[in-house]
Amino acid sequence: MGNRKSRTRRCSLGPIRRRSTITASLLRWYRRNSRDLPWRGERDPYRILVSEVMLQQTQVGRVLAKYPLFLSRFPSFQKLARAKSSSVIKAWQGMGYNGRAVRLWRLARTLMLDGGGKLPGDTRALQKLPGIGLYTASALACFTFGKQVAVVDTNVSRVLYRLFPASVRRRTVSRNETIRRGDLWDAAASLLPKGRAKQWNQALMDLGSTICTARAPKCGACPVQAHCPSAHQINRTRADQRKREPAREGIPNRIYRGRIVEALRNLNGTSSIGQHQLAVSIKPNYRRGDRKWFRQILVDLERDGLVRLARTTTGLRVSLPD
Ligand code: ADE
Repeated sequence: MGNRKSRTRRCSLGPIRRRSTITASLLRWYRRNSRDLPWRGERDPYRILVSEVMLQQTQVGRVLAKYPLFLSRFPSFQKLARAKSSSVIKAWQGMGYNGRAVRLWRLARTLMLDGGGKLPGDTRALQKLPGIGLYTASALACFTFGKQVAVVDTNVSRVLYRLFPASVRRRTVSRNETIRRGDLWDAAASLLPKGRAKQWNQALMDLGSTICTARAPKCGACPVQAHCPSAHQINRTRADQRKREPAREGIPNRIYRGRIVEALRNLNGTSSIGQHQLAVSIKPNYRRGDRKWFRQILVDLERDGLVRLARTTTGLRVSLPD
């Protein structure tokens, strides 16, 4: 109990009147400016889940193009679970971060085996499923099951940091991250207007992606500019800055991983390719010194269920999984 009290105090967002003016102004703005996105009209938990997984690391414009295609190919958990993982990986083409396709497929299989093909309705139970973290669980609970919970994605967190800089500490990638992340989710929860969680979460998402953007925020067009201490003096938060990620010759490993999966998708007729030939096709200046690095990338992809490695006497042969 004491613990909960101190958390609430730590996340106090200032005077109630300011908070309710902010929520009222933003909801009014959202009524006139909400984006018309197909998943917002969906009721089917599967279709909403697919949109949320796609939106986590891919721009809305690209998801708009791919979402209907993926759904027509795999219209339900049942159809997805029955497919081969290689065909799901193929259908994910153009989305990037292919590991998401495999996680979605694994989740569909788990649900068909253990859950009667149905997603549970509350955040805790959802988070127990493979591949569903706090964000996806909250998004499903709110957008599918109408639960009054906060949904904090990158856009929402940026808006909250800027509106409440004194209360919401910046997210840093450190050992304390979970504590700081807790602050952010608590703050978001304490702002939820009664019974309006869905509109409110979507309003914050829309504000963050169209006006309160990371690099060039349009403070002049912001409905809560008058209440925003960061307006016109935006410092880029650490979370907005580019994270350092493992790379080779200035190109992130993530890009090489994507190239490998793309090369395997495009194998015509042959289902596997030798390690060296694959390496040269994704890194034209591939040399001996790259061998260890490349092998590690393959091993990581195998661990993530994105490739299959066959160890032969002449070296590794690589293919999409079955
Ligand atoms: N509406 C519902 N979920 C969304 C998301 N993740 N991004 C943008 N709009 C959404």
